[in-house]
Amino acid sequence: MPSCSYRSSSFTLAVVFICSLLVASCANFDQEFDVTWGNGRGTILNNGQLLSLSLDKASGSGFQSKKEYMFGKVHMQLKLVPGNSAGIVTAYYMKSPGSNWDEIDFEFLGNLSGDPYTVHTNVFSQGKGDREQQFHLWFDPTADFHTYSILWNNQRIIFLVDGTPIREFKNLESIGVPFPKQQPMRIYSSIWNADDWATRGGLVKTDWSGAPFTASYRNFKAEACTVSAGKPSCTSNNSWQRQQLGATSQKRLLWVQKNHMIYNYCTDTKRFPQGFPPECSH
Ligand SMILES: *[C@@H]1O[C@H](CO)[C@@H](O)[C@H](O)[C@H]1NC(C)=O
Ligand SMILES: *[C@@H]1O[C@H](CO)[C@@H](O)[C@H](O)[C@H]1NC(C)=O
Repeated sequence: MPSCSYRSSSFTLAVVFICSLLVASCANFDQEFDVTWGNGRGTILNNGQLLSLSLDKASGSGFQSKKEYMFGKVHMQLKLVPGNSAGIVTAYYMKSPGSNWDEIDFEFLGNLSGDPYTVHTNVFSQGKGDREQQFHLWFDPTADFHTYSILWNNQRIIFLVDGTPIREFKNLESIGVPFPKQQPMRIYSSIWNADDWATRGGLVKTDWSGAPFTASYRNFKAEACTVSAGKPSCTSNNSWQRQQLGATSQKRLLWVQKNHMIYNYCTDTKRFPQGFPPECSH
């Protein structure tokens, strides 16, 4: 059975087409991911169609992709811990190994019942991050599954929520900003207790009476180049390799940034008294 990774060189267009129509049956967690820690707190259910991670006082849990990716567009549906999730962080990210790692992060910071989750984003190139932007969502991410996507090509990284871009990080190597484009990354997710900082800066603690806390995942889909033995599997011309934001998407991005962004490192003058990083003026 084919996976949803579009190894176009070996797949016919018809297979790719069928695969994109049958996302649910393509995204098999058993084939694509390994639960790597949590001693049974992470489980793959429903014949590989669903994955859940949970956290209790003793431990969190996590999984990682079997494959390494070198550019692509990856989609995952997540349903976050409901109710009182204060102190709990669910991270969903791509990362390369080593001390000069690259990383593209979504982190979901829990909150008291009725208070909004914070979606924290960051981009690391060669071990350096410090590029946080945070958002409150325009829906309740615990009531249902929503799609969180990362588009990563050699020109830009775009974070999307239900297809709406919330952040774009452009390749600005031309003005000296390192861009992640040399190191293959795996996909990771984990849930853990971060009540020393996560909610209202650590003021609100995890309420263990609600444990275990569970986040669920389904419908993983990757339109991506995978890497094996150091070589990218795709040499063909995929649309995501050139994808950029069109006029309508630009408008959506501006709408999110104007109405739903709660923190932007590029406007944090306290943090950067000597001036903002160069990418901030673009
Ligand atoms: C939690 O809710 C408060 C109050 O609405 C909000 O200021 C904060 O950004 C929310 N998220 C976190 C992670 O503290
Ligand atoms: C890739 O596809 C686009 C659009 O179909 C085309 O304009 C471009 O020339 C192609 N590039 C290569 C290297 O084949």
